[in-house]
Amino acid sequence: MDKIRWGILGTAGIVRGAFLPALQEAQGGIAWRIGSRNAESAKLFAQTHGVIHASGSYQEVLEDDQVDAFYIPLPNHLHYEWTKALLNTKKPILCEKPLTGSLALTKDLVERAKEQHALLWEAYAFQFQPQWHRIKQLILDRAIGELQEIHGTFNTKLERKDDVRWVKAYDGGAFNDLGCYPVHVTELLMKSLPHKVLAQAEFSGEVDGLVWGALTYSGNPMMQLFMNVSFFRPYDTFTRFVGTKGEIRVDKMYHPGAGDGIELRQENRVVREYPMKGQLPFTDMISHIHQVIRGEKEPMQLVTETALPTAEAMDLMRRQWLKDN
Ligand SMILES: NC(=O)c1ccc[n+]([C@@H]2O[C@H](COP(=O)([O-])OP(=O)(O)OC[C@H]3O[C@@H](n4cnc5c(N)ncnc54)[C@H](OP(=O)(O)O)[C@@H]3O)[C@@H](O)[C@H]2O)c1
Repeated sequence: MDKIRWGILGTAGIVRGAFLPALQEAQGGIAWRIGSRNAESAKLFAQTHGVIHASGSYQEVLEDDQVDAFYIPLPNHLHYEWTKALLNTKKPILCEKPLTGSLALTKDLVERAKEQHALLWEAYAFQFQPQWHRIKQLILDRAIGELQEIHGTFNTKLERKDDVRWVKAYDGGAFNDLGCYPVHVTELLMKSLPHKVLAQAEFSGEVDGLVWGALTYSGNPMMQLFMNVSFFRPYDTFTRFVGTKGEIRVDKMYHPGAGDGIELRQENRVVREYPMKGQLPFTDMISHIHQVIRGEKEPMQLVTETALPTAEAMDLMRRQWLKDN
């Protein structure tokens, strides 16, 4: 098979910052067409970043028969509409996280994806990285005994006043942008809904700028997630998985670089490991999609398997902090 031709909807920051460099590193794919609301922006972006074709609309990308796979890096409120439209092409789709800003819309897309046996992924790049595979394996092997607590943080300073994340109508806010991560990690491990939920938000302008929460999961012993996310603090995604016999500490949970590792702490023993080998955060995700398209691997982490529990847990949390604000 020739190189996999990607069609990209929107000249987003994440396309030049993460997707295109990783596409190059992953090999086997090319940035075939980029669409923008503005034809000039698309043309300039394509020339600057080596995309072969440029279009003045997202629809033209959808209609390009030569595209093999789509990437949706649009603001959150447009994920639903464009994923729904692209599902009709029956081609593989990588949509940015969160898949949608509401439980109802996520349910709708998951149903559609199931009906169509779609190859639809949500761009939680960490799910495809060796760091996450190692953490999961350690937990499964009971290296820390029974998992009892996850402490998940995602802080970043959002300094641009015109960032789409400050706009409520675009499904902005720290919870949609960052809070989805610790909830998703926990739901990937628990595969069940929280038993009790406590969540609060502080608003900044029209969106939540800081959210914290505590979730318990029934079982013996009872599992808890403690999470906090905000737009006001230096970048920090330090995460702890605490068990009855030890813990795993993760330097950078979601976008680890070569020097970032994990620390396994057991009684009388501390071991540091570096599962990442210096690849860019998106590279393993793109490589996986290429392998699936080429028929070399079975798909993993499809939206049909992973999206709903996270959307349900987030809905429970959102309801609580909205009630109290
Ligand atoms: N997976 C990750 O690690 C990761 C990291 C960062 C961001 N993200 C996700 O990626 C998505 C994009 O984030 P970003 O920071 O890259 O966004 P961004 O730089 O603001 O880009 C969003 C793009 O969407 C298009 N767009 C369409 N309607 C728009 C509107 N009303 N206002 C502004 N832009 C509009 C624009 O492209 P045109 O003008 O060309 O049409 C714009 O370039 C979000 O869903 C975010 O959660 C994921």
